[in-house]
Amino acid sequence: MSEKALQGKRIVLCVTGSIAAYKAVSLLRSLVEDGAEVSVVMTPSATQFVAPLTFEVLSGRPVLQRLFADTHPMPHLKVTEDAALILVAPATANCLAKCALGLADDLLGTVFVAARCPIVMAPAMDVEMWDHPAVAAHTRTLRERGIMVLEPEEGPLASGLLGKGRLPAEHAILEAVRARLAVQRDWAGQRVLVSAGPTREPIDAVRFITNASSGKMGYAMADAAAQRGAEVLLVSGPTTLPCPPNVMRVSVTTAEEMYQELEARFSWATVLVMTAAVGDFRPRNPSSEKVKKHQWDGEPLELERTPDILQALSRKRTHHVFVGFAAESEDLLANGRKKLRQKDLDLLVVNGITGPQSAFGNETNEVILLPRHGTPIEVERLPKRLLADRILDTVQEQCIGSPSSRSQQPHEGIRRIQ
Ligand code: CTP
Repeated sequence: MSEKALQGKRIVLCVTGSIAAYKAVSLLRSLVEDGAEVSVVMTPSATQFVAPLTFEVLSGRPVLQRLFADTHPMPHLKVTEDAALILVAPATANCLAKCALGLADDLLGTVFVAARCPIVMAPAMDVEMWDHPAVAAHTRTLRERGIMVLEPEEGPLASGLLGKGRLPAEHAILEAVRARLAVQRDWAGQRVLVSAGPTREPIDAVRFITNASSGKMGYAMADAAAQRGAEVLLVSGPTTLPCPPNVMRVSVTTAEEMYQELEARFSWATVLVMTAAVGDFRPRNPSSEKVKKHQWDGEPLELERTPDILQALSRKRTHHVFVGFAAESEDLLANGRKKLRQKDLDLLVVNGITGPQSAFGNETNEVILLPRHGTPIEVERLPKRLLADRILDTVQEQCIGSPSSRSQQPHEGIRRIQ
């Protein structure tokens, strides 16, 4: 029998006072089924929603609630002593604030400050609270310190409002826990060239043609590869995203500039990840001045094709592994297969770009992975950063040839398409 993904891992599950606390019961069961040894910490507000006995029975351990009244004189030190990971789910707005500020006036706060292991937080709150600048600032602070704060999901909320604030789906939380525990430097020795974001093709000095790409998927790919030990160079179109740690970034504007930068660094790379939404057309004669309204005489804008960067680089290819991203609005599998062949790729990640769940701009994405050889793999909706790890697993397994130990773990939300 294969070993469970979390076998023997000591996890501290902190439950705080949100209506989503009831979902932590199912989460606890899944963690235990996955082999984890779970200790539960509850705040007084959390116990208003779910009785500690429920967690006690399912974890097989006493639930820790108070800083001073429990059996151990220093429960915060005891519980974090040999913990592999701390998972806070649900994390309320108050909990995010307390942890960002390092306030240690109760058991949760002291556990957080005493912890020396990775921390994953799954927020849940009303949309107006999630959107509040204070909550946004605390979330940013926590993320800057390396804590994985997942994005809440959009949908109907307990308040009756519709919006972002639901506890992330259980499979996404479990995936985050596994990914955080499995961080290893299995991409050490690879030199990864990543392109990301949109391109901008000028019409005149102030106007341009662009597309809706946010760059989030490409930045997630760069971050994942760097965390797993690769040297990473990111060639980025215009975005407002911060450069991920340990990644070298070169900023470009047009498709031509992106091509020049990628071409100049191509011989250095072992893997090319073309996440960028490269503009396919540009105005033939852009003006260097701002064109005045009255200067336009009704002439249509004349466009010409930009270079197909992947195709151009594939002519210079030697040892490189090529990963492409397709944006498709229909017939995802058939169009994807055609692109995989035409662009001579080792792996194509096919994104759907229609509807509110479009790959463009969203925090999460749902894709089909089409390897050059082997069956297509459908990956369930995941936060982009977790999806990036899944894509790297597949590249390593199917294109580089050394199966990642992570990819041998059973993944939820993955289905091979025949
Ligand atoms: N790509 C590229 N150069 C271009 C356009 C796209 O290198 N001028 C790359 C993208 O970065 C992506 C892949 O090709 O990895 C597929 O991009 P996509 O926009 O889906 O397809 P296109 O080649 O533009 O084809 P179409 O517009 O017909 O869908």
